Amino acid sequence: MHVKSLTGFLLLAQKVHAAQTVLRFGCSQVVIERLDPLVNPGANPSPHVHQVHTLQNAFNALIPAESDVSQLANCTTCSFSEDLSNYWTANLYFKARNGTYKRVPQIPNRFLDGEVGGMTIYYTSPYDGSKSTAFKPGFRMLAGNADQRATGGVTKWNAICFRCYNAKNFGGDDRAPCSDSKVDSVSLPTKACPGGIRTTIRFPTCWNGKDLDSPDHMSHVSYPATKTFEENGPCPATHPVKLPQLMFEVIWDTASFNDKSLWPADGSQPFVFSTGDSTGYGQHGDYVFGWQEGVLQKAMDAGCFGASCKALKTQAFTAANKCAVPDTVREPVEGWIPRLPGQV
Ligand SMILES: *[C@@H]1O[C@H](CO)[C@@H](O)[C@H](O)[C@H]1NC(C)=O
Ligand SMILES: *[C@@H]1O[C@H](CO)[C@@H](O)[C@H](O)[C@H]1NC(C)=O
Repeated sequence: MHVKSLTGFLLLAQKVHAAQTVLRFGCSQVVIERLDPLVNPGANPSPHVHQVHTLQNAFNALIPAESDVSQLANCTTCSFSEDLSNYWTANLYFKARNGTYKRVPQIPNRFLDGEVGGMTIYYTSPYDGSKSTAFKPGFRMLAGNADQRATGGVTKWNAICFRCYNAKNFGGDDRAPCSDSKVDSVSLPTKACPGGIRTTIRFPTCWNGKDLDSPDHMSHVSYPATKTFEENGPCPATHPVKLPQLMFEVIWDTASFNDKSLWPADGSQPFVFSTGDSTGYGQHGDYVFGWQEGVLQKAMDAGCFGASCKALKTQAFTAANKCAVPDTVREPVEGWIPRLPGQV
């Protein structure tokens, strides 16, 4: 199916230090619905549509605080089978000139066949080869801010980036996010992208060392005090514990919506997140840690690279794709819909 051996691809996750670990693996999409156990626990439906990766019976409107989801879930859509974490993001929609919306599908990642939709997950240890402390059971956090509509905030750490692929097959190129201002932006691209749009979300990499969560799901963690994680920026004194860098990569298959006669008459770009955000500054990701006991720390210390790691068990997507969650919200999220679910 998809090209797995793009020469340029390695650059995105290139190890710069022999002891560095870069786990890079795919997770099929498990459900698309309006639930958000992190920001709107217990609310069914939540304010906007998300796509969720991983888990069967643990993704729910409410995941009890501090619970170890690796004990609640019994399957995963990720290729590393000991990873029962929940990863979710807002969905992208195309808004046609006549005012109706259609969900934009995703292009699966390219290193293992058989993934359905989904995203690629990265866990990267520090670039200087030093150790990181893996997340603890019950840990959760949020990256980005659904209400942001202008530059600033997390864009300072290149936490959200968009790559406009100028050709099919990932534009033949997959360099690190925010590395080339000709094709990268911190807001949604303003022109048609023939190969689709890649969005990346980088999570905070410094932890206060004690809280598994915080009321805003962010203040227990922090981005580096100066510079970025990629530049080996130091953690602030308030959040001294170095975490692996978690990154989500989602590639939106926008190519079938590139007919300009369907775009807004004023020439503006037609894509909008399920939050109602047409700028892209509000792109965000949610994380509920759920690796089985001790496994992520072992992998982060093993110097692994890519989608195979001797310290970890893997499963084929034929098995992973059997992991399903019933849609509990039951409302149309597919086809041409008159409004974004939950939005006015
Ligand atoms: C997981 O749990 C669900 C519901 O509790 C059950 O229906 C399913 O058979 C279980 N799957 C596995 C692989 O154990
Ligand atoms: C709106 O536009 C889309 C894209 O051209 C089309 O497929 C759909 O049928 C239209 N819906 C209505 C209600 O006109």
